[in-house]
Amino acid sequence: MTATSNRSWKIAPSILSADFARLGEEVRACEAAGADWVHVDVMDGSFVPNITIGPLVLEAARRSTSLPMDVHLMIVEPERHLRAFAEAGASVITVHAEACPHLHNTVRMLKHDEPYRSLGIRAGVALNPHTPISALDYVLPDLDLVVVMTVNPGWGAQPYIPRTLRKLEELRERFARLGLTDPPLLEVDGGVKVSNAHEFALADVLVCGSGLFHYPDGTYADAVSGLRRQLATTLT
Ligand code: DX5
Ligand code: ZN
Repeated sequence: MTATSNRSWKIAPSILSADFARLGEEVRACEAAGADWVHVDVMDGSFVPNITIGPLVLEAARRSTSLPMDVHLMIVEPERHLRAFAEAGASVITVHAEACPHLHNTVRMLKHDEPYRSLGIRAGVALNPHTPISALDYVLPDLDLVVVMTVNPGWGAQPYIPRTLRKLEELRERFARLGLTDPPLLEVDGGVKVSNAHEFALADVLVCGSGLFHYPDGTYADAVSGLRRQLATTLT
């Protein structure tokens, strides 16, 4: 897979794999390592089996960095919690298409209602591995971010599912066909490592949890530069 030479990528460490006893320090270390966003995985024990982070922890992490907080809501009825996460410091809020029967309305809220509008919240939608990109057809022009789940959400450190990568090509084609002048960013989430980052080069944002926090060959900065180096090998 080849990308054009003016490409750049954002690296978003998922704090799910961080040491929560030292969360502030870990978030600061990500910023010092050259990360672009901080990815915050919110799980409710219902949409996914695991339970993780709430607005209180987001607010604490937020105080340790000036990087944008990329909040991934793996929760049912996300509409009920958008305000809490927005006010706790989210920059991007992503909901799951599968968790939103009224997805158009949820995205509309994030883009146009208060307090989201004044806070400048960006709106994202995530697709589970089985969900086709057509689920986004009628909301695509309103989105700032599309998250292609490359694992089934619920845990960190899973191997990515190769066939999900086809969605990146499909989405790029769909953006072109719709003639979107300012298309949403494409994010991949799950199983990204320094060793395989080149396979995700069609994305704009790469979430990396265990691949960064448990990088066996060096520091977080080594992991971030390793990811960028792998991605750069795809440039023509
Ligand atoms: C999966 C989460 C991911 C995950 C990524 O449910 O949404 O963000 O933590 O972790 P790694 O990079 O370890 O697969
Ligand atoms: Zn995530």
